[in-house]
Amino acid sequence: MQPKITFFRLLGLGGIIFLSHFLKFDQLFRQHFTAANQPVGLVDSLLSIMTLEEKIGQMTLFTSDWELTGPTLRATYKEDIQNGRCGAIFNAHTAAYTRELQKIAVNETRLGIPLLFGYDVIHGYKTIFPIPLGESASWDIEAIEKSARVAADESTAAGLHWTFAPMVDVSRDPRWGRVAEGAGEDHYLGAKIAAARVKGFQGDNLKDLNSMLACVKHFAAYGAPQAGRDYHSVDMSEMTLREIYLPPYKAAIDAGAKSVMTSFNDVFGVPATGNTFLLKQILRDEWGFDGFVVTDYTSINEMVAHGVAANEADAGLMAAKAGVDMDMQGAVYYKYLLQQVRSGQISMRLIDESVKRILKIKEDLGLFEDPFRYCNAEREKQTILSPANRAAARDVAKKSIVLLKNQGNILPVDVNKGQKIALIGPLAETQKELLGSWSAAGFDTDCVSLKSGLLAQIKNPSLLQVVKGCNINGTDKTGFNAALAAAKKADIVIMALGEEGLMSGEAASRADIHLPGVQEDLLKAVSALGKPIIVVLMNGRPLILDQVDMNAQAMLETWFLGTEGGNAIADVLFGKYNPSGKLPMTFPKNMGQIPIHYNVKSTGRPFDAVNKYTSKYLDSPNEPLYPFGFGLSYTQFEYSSIALNDKIMTKNSPVEFSVVVKNMGAVAGEEVVQLYIRDVVASVTRPVRELKRFEKINLKAGEQKTVKFTLSANDLTFYNPQNLPVWEPGAFEVFIGGNSLATLKTQFSLVR
Ligand code: GLC
Repeated sequence: MQPKITFFRLLGLGGIIFLSHFLKFDQLFRQHFTAANQPVGLVDSLLSIMTLEEKIGQMTLFTSDWELTGPTLRATYKEDIQNGRCGAIFNAHTAAYTRELQKIAVNETRLGIPLLFGYDVIHGYKTIFPIPLGESASWDIEAIEKSARVAADESTAAGLHWTFAPMVDVSRDPRWGRVAEGAGEDHYLGAKIAAARVKGFQGDNLKDLNSMLACVKHFAAYGAPQAGRDYHSVDMSEMTLREIYLPPYKAAIDAGAKSVMTSFNDVFGVPATGNTFLLKQILRDEWGFDGFVVTDYTSINEMVAHGVAANEADAGLMAAKAGVDMDMQGAVYYKYLLQQVRSGQISMRLIDESVKRILKIKEDLGLFEDPFRYCNAEREKQTILSPANRAAARDVAKKSIVLLKNQGNILPVDVNKGQKIALIGPLAETQKELLGSWSAAGFDTDCVSLKSGLLAQIKNPSLLQVVKGCNINGTDKTGFNAALAAAKKADIVIMALGEEGLMSGEAASRADIHLPGVQEDLLKAVSALGKPIIVVLMNGRPLILDQVDMNAQAMLETWFLGTEGGNAIADVLFGKYNPSGKLPMTFPKNMGQIPIHYNVKSTGRPFDAVNKYTSKYLDSPNEPLYPFGFGLSYTQFEYSSIALNDKIMTKNSPVEFSVVVKNMGAVAGEEVVQLYIRDVVASVTRPVRELKRFEKINLKAGEQKTVKFTLSANDLTFYNPQNLPVWEPGAFEVFIGGNSLATLKTQFSLVR
């Protein structure tokens, strides 16, 4: 309830406004201004004495010149801070540098409003964790939250308040380089992971010293660009948008995320940065989001290139009216908003709403109490790259590794057997590529290469010979002979193949996602020697691995595992850790299948090998090389005795499903038990499989466990052509297993 404005309050306020031209907000408002014994919030009081220029300053975010993460850079950012025309800075970090910039804002501006410091802490600040797509392959929600927690601890120790993460864009197209930053193709898994990352970053209270503001991005549907080409147009039905692409954003906001970043793409023909349907109807009206909205890098300006604004001033009006609170790097609000408010094109109410949201977050972070609370060099020194953080990174990394093939169980390698190992390939010794894209303040020299990881566990280093063989890219084959010579002398060959770290991430779409360069030729040449070959893949997206699959006896998908990558891979290769990862994205057999994902519709002519006139290719199978949810183990898990406690589900009576999972092998292992449904008949076509539950369990050799899942009618909701969430009575099939092709099945009926 707003406090009554009494005569004395107005008098007091007038006095403060007069005084405020001489004193700083902290002297004025340290003791909240009160009238009639009603404490008036600091933010409201501050707002009441800010000039329009100062308000627009809070709506302006500029990058420092420490890094460039987009097409423009302004060298005047320090002057902008000093003039009160920039309220937030990104790409500036360390306790020392943030303190330097914060001093300008607090001591040299009229009101001393503290800066907000943001940075792309996507998978770690200094201790770099696996790229998010890799972490998602762990399906380990606790580990994923822990990763974000460590990232927040290190970031806040380095003066940061705000990360531009989690990126939660669902994507079904591996040509798009930014799949590396997300959680893959499935919205259910993506939503669970989005919530975990928000909780990890924000903790229980934004005011905690090791909590930082999360930023859900990129809102919305940035992961569905035409042809997998970054920044390309997005075109889909509202049904698909709501059912497949929106859930992870909503999960992040329901988990408490207090900032959202708009995406570069258009949705229904309107760029997200000027899209009222997204920013008002969905975000505010339907979801009740009360944080602030920031654009992506110059995405207001880019509405001119999109062709929906004649000039930047018009683009700024469109963004402000749609609900954008903060302009990242575009300087559009900076240049045009003052005149647009004065000329009545934008209301002061709208400006105040935006500024209030932003100041509220600064208050929640404790910045008004102590603007320098995060600029503690001593804490920074103790926290960054601590042994505990490295251990956490190694733990999450090994859980992210997916065993794709293990013919003849040549893995794990017995390190005590004294076998000669040839480590061949352009990623054998790399430290830099392990960082992947968006590696924040991570240093390559802090990374444990695969070579170092192997040497740390092989007692006698003379048993390991390392030969690069070729580059990641390019046509040079002059290194092949040395590689073949090393392979000939070895008992086992480990080949480290893959992409450069920056061949995925932003502005890194690839039209051909085979192994780059001549790496496949190198593998074939070594394969011709007949030695057992273990391929260790380091890549930021699904690749076309048909040739690798044909020439390798074993394959590990290790993504880009970060600072402890080499140790984590060695842990798996030598059996210290039994791999438990499952693919969060489908791996196609060939380029022609793309886009390909598991939750496809049946069509009216589902595939039939015999009948020509069914949905298939003349020159390719429909099935992928490796399906969503797939991953092997050094042991085998047997699924049996699927059961349910009732064949009938009603709105108020959920059904409990159970399955027995047994570890049939001689070693302990973790298994991700996955439950999929199929809605057999509905008023609209439904996917042949939909992931609805999963649980990662740990079983000792020979141990079995009954795993239980409960589904209710709400879990069976989908969007109808009127874009309303509905559930419909009818028959449902349930499949439970270790990947999306699970065959163990039961049925139930949903009745009204
Ligand atoms: C980039 C990215 C976005 C990032 C921002 C700031 O263009 O699209 O994900 O957070 O700019 O670096």
